[in-house]
Amino acid sequence: MTSKTKILTIIGSPRKEGNSYQAAKKLEDMMKIKGDYEFEYLFLKDINLEACKGCFSCLSKGIEYCPLKDGRKMIQEKMREADGLVLVSPVYVMHVSALLKNFIDRLAYLCHRPEYHGKKALVLTTTGGMGIKETLKYMKMVVDSGGYDVTSQCGLVTAPWPPTDALKNKNSNTLEKAVEKFDSSLKSDEKGVSFGNYMGFRIFKTVSENVKDYMPADYKFNKGKEYYYPAKIGILTRIATGLMLKVVFFMMRDLGPRDTKRDNYFTEHE
Ligand SMILES: Cc1cc2nc3c(=O)[nH]c(=O)nc-3n(C[C@H](O)[C@H](O)[C@H](O)COP(=O)(O)O)c2cc1C
Repeated sequence: MTSKTKILTIIGSPRKEGNSYQAAKKLEDMMKIKGDYEFEYLFLKDINLEACKGCFSCLSKGIEYCPLKDGRKMIQEKMREADGLVLVSPVYVMHVSALLKNFIDRLAYLCHRPEYHGKKALVLTTTGGMGIKETLKYMKMVVDSGGYDVTSQCGLVTAPWPPTDALKNKNSNTLEKAVEKFDSSLKSDEKGVSFGNYMGFRIFKTVSENVKDYMPADYKFNKGKEYYYPAKIGILTRIATGLMLKVVFFMMRDLGPRDTKRDNYFTEHE
C-alpha cells in the first residue's frame, strides 16, 4: 500500500473563512481529483506566534536561541512531516498579510540555513485587484530560500465584497493551471541544482567563513558542505560560480565587519 502525499496548507489570512481559505479549499479539492493527497491546515490566526524581537539570535547563534517559546516549533514540525507546502496570503496593501510576514520573520534563519530541500511548494495569494505579481514574487523568493522548490504560483482576483462566486471562470482556470504544475512536480523525483541556487550557496558559505565569529551557526552549518545536500555539480558551473564569487566579493570588499570592539553587537540588542 502506498502512503498518501502529505500537504501542509498555512493560511496567513486573519479571516478564517475568507477568500484565501476558500481558494485553498478549492485547490485541495482539485488536487484530490489528481492524486492521493492528504491536506492539513494551519491558521496563523489561531497559533500563538509572537512578533519577532529582532535579537538576531536565530541567525547568528541558532534557532534554539530564539527567546520566544511559542507555536513556532510546532509549525516547523508540521513542515518537516509534510511532502509539500501550500503557503497562502491575501494581498494587504500590496504585500503579504502581517500574520504571514511575522511567520516569515520568525523563520528568518532559513534564508541562511535552508532545511526543506526535497519538498515542493505552491504559493497562493488572493487580491481585490492589485499586488499579485509583487506578493507572489516575494512569497516564492522566501519559500525557495528555505530549501523548498516552489513549482507553482497562483494569484486570484477575489473582491472583499459579494458576489462570492469569485472562484469561477478566470480564477478557476488559473487554479487549474497551478494545480496541474504542483501535482506533476510532486509526482516527479527531479532534484536538479540550478546555477542560481549553487551561486547562492557559495556566497553564503564564503560569507559565513569570513564572519564566523559573528555568524557561528552559519559557519557550522556550511562547514565541509559541497552543497546543501549531495548533488552533482558540473565543472563549468563550479568554474563560472568561482569567477562570479570573486567579482561579488571584490564589489563587497568594504562591507566587512569593521568595529571589532563591538563583539557583543548582537547580544546587546536582545
Ligand atoms: C487591510 C486590507 C488591505 C488590502 N489591500 C489590498 C491591496 O493592496 N490591493 C488589492 O487589490 N486588494 C487589497 N485588499 C483586498 C484583499 O486582498 C482581497 O479581498 C483578498 O481576497 C482578501 O482575502 P481574505 O478574505 O483571505 O482576507 C485588501 C484588503 C484588506 C482587508
